[in-house]
Amino acid sequence: MTQVGFLGCGKIGKTMIRHLKVRADHPIAFVQTPNFKGDINLDCPVVSTFDEDVCKADLVVECATPDVLKQQYQYYLRRSDMLILSLTAFSDDDFANKAYALCEKHGTNIFLAHGAILGLDGIFDARDILNNVTIETVKNPKSLGRSDTDRTVFFNGSTREACQLMPPKCQCSRCHRYGWPWL
Ligand SMILES: NC(=O)c1ccc[n+]([C@@H]2O[C@H](COP(=O)([O-])OP(=O)(O)OC[C@H]3O[C@@H](n4cnc5c(N)ncnc54)[C@H](O)[C@@H]3O)[C@@H](O)[C@H]2O)c1
Repeated sequence: MTQVGFLGCGKIGKTMIRHLKVRADHPIAFVQTPNFKGDINLDCPVVSTFDEDVCKADLVVECATPDVLKQQYQYYLRRSDMLILSLTAFSDDDFANKAYALCEKHGTNIFLAHGAILGLDGIFDARDILNNVTIETVKNPKSLGRSDTDRTVFFNGSTREACQLMPPKCQCSRCHRYGWPWL
């Protein structure tokens, strides 16, 4: 049976863990998350930072933040495949190239969760004949830290720029304590 571990245990992590445990009866190998509140019933080890004796799995699901992914991927891609949710990290070419190189070296794989961009597989297949792809996203202003009451255009530009301008906020106590710039 494939050993599955989790880096991150927020909304998506908890949903996937519940699905695996309850609907698929699939055990979880470990969860890495800071400040675990016990708001989901886990019978696997929970660690707040990477522990090489504990954080072992065939597949590690990253569902934390792009910054956490960039801090942690090197520990994992040396020995595990990763299913990555924080796709905006790949707008950083330096990170992307280092991650691909690690996979190449260690024979591991990265799986990208296309999520809200339905049809991404079709776009990927047709990439040689497409010149442009336009995506329009409508979001609750609160998710961008705004309080608009009327519908407005907040950003118009490349997806790469959007990824860099609007990374999800890291909730960990270390970031909050030091007031790191993405908060
Ligand atoms: N690809 C997709 O389809 C898709 C869709 C929605 C969200 N996302 C992305 O998935 C990620 C998770 O989304 P979410 O809604 O579950 O977010 P969330 O805010 O609910 O959870 C984030 C989790 O990150 C974890 N975390 C924070 N700091 C950490 C650290 N230092 N080490 C380990 N874990 C840490 C915590 O467990 C926290 O609960 C985000 O990057 C989000 O942008 C992807």
